[in-house]
Amino acid sequence: MSELHARIAGIGRYLPDNVVTNDDLAKIVDTNDEWIRERTGIATRRIEEDPEKGAAYMAAEAARVAIDRSGFAPEEIDTVILSTATPDRFLPSTACDTQAILGLPNAMALDLTAACSGWLYGLTMGEGMIASGRSKATLVVATEKMSGIVDWTDRATCVLFGDGAGAVVLAPANGDGTGIVSSFHCSDGNLGELLWRPAGGNICPMTPQTLENRDHLLKMNGREIFKSAVRSMAQACDEALSRAGMTGEDVDLLVPHQANIRIIQATAKYAGIPMEKVYVNVDRYGNMSSASIPVALDEALEDGSIQPGMRVLAPTFGAGLTWGAVVLQF
Ligand code: UT7
Repeated sequence: MSELHARIAGIGRYLPDNVVTNDDLAKIVDTNDEWIRERTGIATRRIEEDPEKGAAYMAAEAARVAIDRSGFAPEEIDTVILSTATPDRFLPSTACDTQAILGLPNAMALDLTAACSGWLYGLTMGEGMIASGRSKATLVVATEKMSGIVDWTDRATCVLFGDGAGAVVLAPANGDGTGIVSSFHCSDGNLGELLWRPAGGNICPMTPQTLENRDHLLKMNGREIFKSAVRSMAQACDEALSRAGMTGEDVDLLVPHQANIRIIQATAKYAGIPMEKVYVNVDRYGNMSSASIPVALDEALEDGSIQPGMRVLAPTFGAGLTWGAVVLQF
């Protein structure tokens, strides 16, 4: 087992109250409950209806719980790493907006853009800050208001996503044996246009034409992403497990990115982990991008799926393309 540098001192989540069913979506696009359940495993998702409640609001709600549970005072949080694909505005960062809501006077705050993999990337960045002694308490929060960037006229994408946020506070490992055991991350920028928002940046600024084409909204090549996801999650599991000196048999719970039940099943099968040892909430929340894994971890701890002493493997993939996995010892 590799040396532990950082442990999870506190964890929290936020989910909007508003539940949207597949039948609700069938009223706005040409889809149906059967197709969505069969192809994705999704039955409902949460959608934040209040325009005043953006990514920073959701991040702050999740982070407040994580900080309370961590035992750290807000003044002691020295680093905020925030993952989002749905920032509230281009400048300043959603991390700074979140810091302002929470009142964290002694923290540096920055956004991290790695789509669905962002929270796991952030966890490893935070671990590095802790390991180097630069941070004593790092907040790693993922917040995704996917409802703000999906095209509600595109049935191929709008049925897949949901809103939510999850957060942890990382602290130096304290000898109790818990913490981040291993990690692996990778990206392939050549495949960026498989899942992207074409308009709104320097190369393709927003114009009346791009607005009319809905090019500022999420576009996805679902089939290609599916294939890449299965391949990259498998590699991520292999690498993170081998760096931890483990095999799939040593894993007590698989907590994968929650995009599609078929991708989750393929990943579990590849890693040799039976579905009884897989945490699934894609049926209730859809794909919450980088918030999926921390929300699932928080729920799994709360409902007893994760017990002290358990080893958890968490693999992810997303736009970029980005992918990776971590092994956590609870
Ligand atoms: O975090 C990363 C985010 N992205 C992903 O994880 C996406 C990965 N990809 C997927 O999960 C799957 O590719 C989808 C769920 C997006 C699509 O499933 P699929 O089995 O690959 O379906 P498909 O795209 O091949 O479409 C099959 C049919 C098409 O009709 P035709 O051409 O066969 O007549 C689609 O037009 O299903 C149709 N279709 C729908 N029908 C009803 C597409 N979306 C819908 C829909 N309701 N919502």
